[in-house]
Amino acid sequence: MELKTVGVVGAGLMGNGIAQTIAQAGYQTVMSEINEQLLNKGLGMIKANLANAVAKGKMQQVDMDAVLNRIKGTTNVKDFQSCDLIVEAAVENMDLKKKIFAELDQICPPHTIIGTNSSSLSIIDIAVATKRPDKILGLHFFNPVPVMKLLEIVKTIVTSEDTLNTSKEFGARLGKTVITAKDAPAYIVNRLLIPYLMEAIRLYESGYASREDIDAGMRLGCNHPMGPLELLDFVGLDTAMYATAAMYAELKDPKMNPPILLKKMVTAGQLGRKTGKGFYDYSK
Ligand code: 3HC
Repeated sequence: MELKTVGVVGAGLMGNGIAQTIAQAGYQTVMSEINEQLLNKGLGMIKANLANAVAKGKMQQVDMDAVLNRIKGTTNVKDFQSCDLIVEAAVENMDLKKKIFAELDQICPPHTIIGTNSSSLSIIDIAVATKRPDKILGLHFFNPVPVMKLLEIVKTIVTSEDTLNTSKEFGARLGKTVITAKDAPAYIVNRLLIPYLMEAIRLYESGYASREDIDAGMRLGCNHPMGPLELLDFVGLDTAMYATAAMYAELKDPKMNPPILLKKMVTAGQLGRKTGKGFYDYSK
């Protein structure tokens, strides 16, 4: 199936990066948010990213304008009617995702593939909220989406081969390397990454090491671009907490139970860079 128009539900950190990447690959793009304020914030982030590329001489102004012209921002779910494929990038909450998928299922034509950017939830649970479970799968992107080279595709036991193949071609056209995971808790990348991040929080909260030393240890000792606490601030502590809680719910591994410090920081609104404070202070 040839994809012409691609939708993105959510214009937050992940949603706007996904929409930018899709529009840069030449697709007509529809990006939605729940209100004008959040939509404009997401569109503003795309503009700023593209303007940065133009300022660095990596993109022509005319190409930036063409990318922006391909993106239609909306707060009306009916605008997804024209989409051949949709990536849902809303908050990591099963009930919300089921509601969004059921609604999209009503609105979209039968051929539309709907993927979720969930970082850890069971995809089959989301798929059965629709009447097209064979056209549902995980399309897991990584932050910052325009930069990170991976797309992790998650196939449920009922995802069709056509859906999988079309999604793989879509990922390749976005310039991503595609890996395929089964619908097991947290798939491949987060199954490995989240336990590591949780262990870093426990190390820090137990007082065994300073945050700076934990981060420097992994940056300099293992050549990671960011240490684990910096990375947690970067992806958002709420996102990390939802992911580990989802893994705990399925695996019952005590190491996946969210550390107390993480829960308290999320309750206090210390979600990392996006709120100006997490393990580090970004307010200045
Ligand atoms: N959007 C677009 N481009 C961006 C960007 C953004 N948000 N942030 C950085 N960039 C670009 C910069 O413009 C720059 O481009 P250039 O090389 O063409 O000039 C390039 O990325 C490098 O950026 P900087 O020079 O500003 O900074 P760094 O060299 O320190 O790199 C980083 C920044 C790419 C974020 C790097 O620190 C990194 O790779 N960090 C780890 C990121 C990571 O692990 N992400 C995965 C998180 S897990 C996840 O998303 C899954 C989820 O389910 C939890």
